[in-house]
Amino acid sequence: MKTLHLSADKQKDIEQAKEILANGELVAIPTETVYGLAADASNPEAVKKIFAAKGRPANHPLIVHIGNMDQLSDWAQDIPEQAYQLAKAFWPGPVTMLLNKADKANSVVTGGLETIGVRMPAHGVFSTLLQSGLAVAAPSANPYKKLSPTSAEHVLNSLGGKLAAVLDGGDCVHGLESTIVDLTQTPLRILRSGPISAAQLSDVLGEEVLSPKTHNVAVPGNVTSHYQPNTKVRLVDSQALSNTQGKKVAYLHYSSLDESQQAIENVTSKQMSGNVAEYSYQLYRSLDEADKWGCEEIWVERPPLSDEWLAVHDRLNRAQSKLS
Ligand code: TXA
Ligand code: MG
Repeated sequence: MKTLHLSADKQKDIEQAKEILANGELVAIPTETVYGLAADASNPEAVKKIFAAKGRPANHPLIVHIGNMDQLSDWAQDIPEQAYQLAKAFWPGPVTMLLNKADKANSVVTGGLETIGVRMPAHGVFSTLLQSGLAVAAPSANPYKKLSPTSAEHVLNSLGGKLAAVLDGGDCVHGLESTIVDLTQTPLRILRSGPISAAQLSDVLGEEVLSPKTHNVAVPGNVTSHYQPNTKVRLVDSQALSNTQGKKVAYLHYSSLDESQQAIENVTSKQMSGNVAEYSYQLYRSLDEADKWGCEEIWVERPPLSDEWLAVHDRLNRAQSKLS
């Protein structure tokens, strides 16, 4: 299949993307987090194509993206008051809420589960697409277990030929996937860390929200190897650089390199930001870039251990190959 490269700046291209979705085909769409591989969520046959294109197991649930609050009850039921409070504070935005699935919501989307993840994305083009009442199921637009794409080029390079079109809306501003919060049990808990922290959620709700540091998350799709470039990734402390043993290493670091580190042969390095939001924005695109340097391994300097870096640590731990 030839994948069309459409522009989110052109009304005609947006209309074409809508038509493709209405015809039950897949379109990659930019969100404020990462690009999503979208299908009409109410069309089970279209949703099945997402699993096929990604090579994703059918029991790994997908997130449903809605454009307005009226759509929430099409997909979820027994919606607790906290959902409305969080929606008011963070939607449209990078928070996915896990709720009880509405009876009529199709179970291909939820991978057969009785719960459903719903979010309202904050990206101009997404809002335009969803205005008509359409809801789209969309995982990140990457092959199963690979890096999530933050640009249209990245989608085309990794999934080109497997979807009808990519709607190019430029680079994603957050660069890391949404925070997923489970509202089906008390206390509320974060299942996947993201741009919005447990502290921010609890401030709005006035109640405790657990973070993955305080509990184990066992749901299909929450796998320990994920977000991986093709080159092996290793998390290291900055002193490790003095012991590359002649290996060709790509090095992503946020602390500055001293002169002796700069002089080490066979190391191609990239300076990352020390600011967590900027670092998150850079992370997937830098791993993707480093993947093309022809190195034997990608070494990533372990970021600070403070809570605000939780989402970054989560992605890096999963990107790290299970090396001895
Ligand atoms: O930022 C995002 O959330 C992006 C953009 C495209 O919206 N989407 C995204 O989707 O990251 P995906 O499929 O790559 O990751 C969704 C995660 C999976 O790990 C899945 O297991 C979890 O959400 N999830 C979805 N529905 C769930 C459910 N009913 N119960 C438990 N986990 C669920
Ligand atoms: Mg994903």
